[in-house]
Amino acid sequence: MQPLAVSCECRKIEKLKNEWKSSGINTEMSTQTFSNFEVWNESSEFAKEVAIAFYNDFKNIRNNRQNSILFCGQVGSGKTHLSVALGINLLDKKIKVVYMSYRDVLTKIKRNMLDDEYYTKIISKYQTCDVLLIDDLFKGKVNESDINIMFEIINYRYLNHLPVIISTEFTVDRLLYFDEGIGSRIYEMCKDYVVEIEKSQENNYRLR
Ligand SMILES: Nc1ncnc2c1ncn2[C@@H]1O[C@H](COP(=O)(O)OP(=O)(O)OP(=O)(O)O)[C@@H](O)[C@H]1O
Ligand SMILES: [Mg+2]
Repeated sequence: MQPLAVSCECRKIEKLKNEWKSSGINTEMSTQTFSNFEVWNESSEFAKEVAIAFYNDFKNIRNNRQNSILFCGQVGSGKTHLSVALGINLLDKKIKVVYMSYRDVLTKIKRNMLDDEYYTKIISKYQTCDVLLIDDLFKGKVNESDINIMFEIINYRYLNHLPVIISTEFTVDRLLYFDEGIGSRIYEMCKDYVVEIEKSQENNYRLR
């Protein structure tokens, strides 16, 4: 029985990798790796250190209250780069990491909101995966239904101690202001691994 179970797990990982690819991230030849992440100033040094520490600690902390990581702040500072590097490294360890491009996914969910079956299925995918990578949380205009959808996902993961990797241009204070219920849960889950990059063009790799 064992080999069958293993190959089933491997198939699930392959399927996830294909989903990553259709979001534009090729897991085999991604340029967004730890080794390609240049330490070019203080904030990139700190961000890389925290990301690698999280990766090294992951096995021991994954079921804890504090089991998640938050990259927030300055645009173009490598938040997505490090989130993706982490996600791919964990996928390679056979951990089922789902990539969620916040804006694309929320648009898709809201377009299909009246289809109960679809709604339950898609929400539960983001609620129950081993690790959820939310890229660019709260990008664009945020309305009540965005908040409700994100609360359903975050609260489920919070209650079940399921890790998240989050990238967002909003600081912790701003996340709390959007919605204290979501923001404070995220903060509690991520508080051992918060990378808040100061908003300054000096920290924008694209403008270096
Ligand atoms: N320290 C770095 N070393 C190498 N490449 C980097 C570094 N920081 C950023 N980059 C590259 O710069 C580009 C922008 O980085 P990234 O998309 O990760 O930024 P971001 O903080 O997520 O920005 P945004 O808020 O716009 O989403 C990417 O191509 C990324 O690979
Ligand atoms: Mg980004």
